[in-house]
Amino acid sequence: MITGGAGDIARAAARRFAEEGARLLLADTDAKGLDAACAELQAKGAGAEGRLLDVTDVGAVEAAVESLRGGLDVLVHCAGIYRHRLVAEMTEQEWDETLAVNLKGAFAVCRAAGRAMATRERGGAIVNLASVSAQRGSALHAHYCASKAGLVGFGRALALELAPRVRVNAVAPGIIESRMIADMLPVRGEEWKRQIPLARYGRPEDVAEAILFLAGDRASYVNGAVLNVNGGMWMD
Ligand SMILES: NC(=O)c1ccc[n+]([C@@H]2O[C@H](COP(=O)([O-])OP(=O)(O)OC[C@H]3O[C@@H](n4cnc5c(N)ncnc54)[C@H](O)[C@@H]3O)[C@@H](O)[C@H]2O)c1
Repeated sequence: MITGGAGDIARAAARRFAEEGARLLLADTDAKGLDAACAELQAKGAGAEGRLLDVTDVGAVEAAVESLRGGLDVLVHCAGIYRHRLVAEMTEQEWDETLAVNLKGAFAVCRAAGRAMATRERGGAIVNLASVSAQRGSALHAHYCASKAGLVGFGRALALELAPRVRVNAVAPGIIESRMIADMLPVRGEEWKRQIPLARYGRPEDVAEAILFLAGDRASYVNGAVLNVNGGMWMD
């Protein structure tokens, strides 16, 4: 199951999971995007289904996970929003919206998936999408940074609670060529480029590889980790 399944990183991950023979449930609020993502996967013979889902709707999230009837092996939580506002000008509503989608949404999907996986002999794996912004801060994005830093702490706690059956890890992407950052490129693109030792933005495919690794058996002893995929922009 991939939340934010119509998004750029999610679609790249879905392609890689499909290549490995996975059957996919893509969940998103974007109906058109979901149709396009599923059509692309199905055209390649992959088993893919779309589900309209707002990750802040806890009941709907529970129902989506239940619809998989114990067949959920991997949750990749990609759903997220990236809004731009100085703290001094930020409204309470703007703060709440970002925290709701990025952090409460993670609670909803991880709780539902964790419960479903923990009762199974073969367990499962959860991969959350954090961000370099949580590690180094980003002006205009305090709500986003707070939500992603919160997601890292939440994921580590969950990694303890769900072990040993379920592994919980995160990927922390840097600047990835995607629609999410498109409107920030004219504002901060040059500055970002100077800060990336590998001298290019990341591609959704770069992040997809890290997600696939953390979700699979090759990472069977990796738990509670945050894997940076940022071209060296931030090292820790
Ligand atoms: N693109 C980057 O540079 C970058 C960097 C660091 C972290 N990330 C994180 O990676 C993840 C994927 O980002 P992306 O670049 O693919 O962005 P994207 O905007 O292409 O995808 C995000 C998806 O989440 C969906 N979404 C938004 N609100 C939702 C909700 N309430 N319920 C369900 N779905 C919802 C959107 O419709 C969209 O399809 C996000 O969590 C993002 O914060 C991205």
